[in-house]
Amino acid sequence: MDIIHSAAALRERLQREPDNVFVPTMGNLHEGHIELMRVAKPRAACTVVSIFVNRLQFGPKEDFERYPRTLEADAASLEKVGVNVVFAPDEREIYPEAQTFVVEPSDLQHILEGAHRPGHFRGVATVVLKLFNLVMPHSAIFGKKDYQQYIVLRDMVRQFALPIEIIPAETVRAEDGLALSSRNAYLSEPARREAPRLYQVLRKARAALDGGARDFQRIELEAMSALAGHGWKPDYVAVRRQADLQPPGADDRALVVLAAARIDSTRLIDNVEVNLGR
Ligand code: PAF
Repeated sequence: MDIIHSAAALRERLQREPDNVFVPTMGNLHEGHIELMRVAKPRAACTVVSIFVNRLQFGPKEDFERYPRTLEADAASLEKVGVNVVFAPDEREIYPEAQTFVVEPSDLQHILEGAHRPGHFRGVATVVLKLFNLVMPHSAIFGKKDYQQYIVLRDMVRQFALPIEIIPAETVRAEDGLALSSRNAYLSEPARREAPRLYQVLRKARAALDGGARDFQRIELEAMSALAGHGWKPDYVAVRRQADLQPPGADDRALVVLAAARIDSTRLIDNVEVNLGR
């Protein structure tokens, strides 16, 4: 496995690798990321992983500075799972000058996560486009844990006709149901014990939809008050269409329930897909 820090060296190394699959990450890898690598591996001769904590996608009050940077441990787990190339640039390599050209996603960037993290998806889309241009993969893997991110990037690739297939990977959960996330490391012990409730309320919402409930607003409000009743500060619980994350009509069948909530000072997100029969 090669660990490469500069864009020039990356281009040179990848010149002999036309068959690339790419997994962009911000490092601090856990089993959820390793699952992305497992989805990637069989799809190409060369699996490329980037590790870059992208300042552009963090708000001024967010955790950019304290986001865990664990390159040595990350490299060891990537080597084990058979990754071929790790691209771990520093900021000057990705942003040698102020990034004044940016990718401005559709209105999708202003709803749900975007409503609570202004500029987040612009930052994500901008760095991912740049990474795509450096790696030039034929496929790239994104976890469904960040569902809205997956949809924004899928749409970006389609609208700009990039020759890249975007492949979603399932969320990996701890035994108690908590979706794996680098931010779980911020949870205190009592908050970690409480954290699986987020997935529990999402499953309850899914069961209600599966059982025929169609009062989406009521499902959302019940889920939010279940969280609030246990000390959470929910930002949103929303029943949406999988295709475009807009509110569903009565006939929509492919739904997703998305949630974001704070327990203590840690903000967690999660979602469940709901595929209703005809
Ligand atoms: O999902 C992430 O870790 C990041 O948003 C990504 C896609 C690597 C872009 O910085």
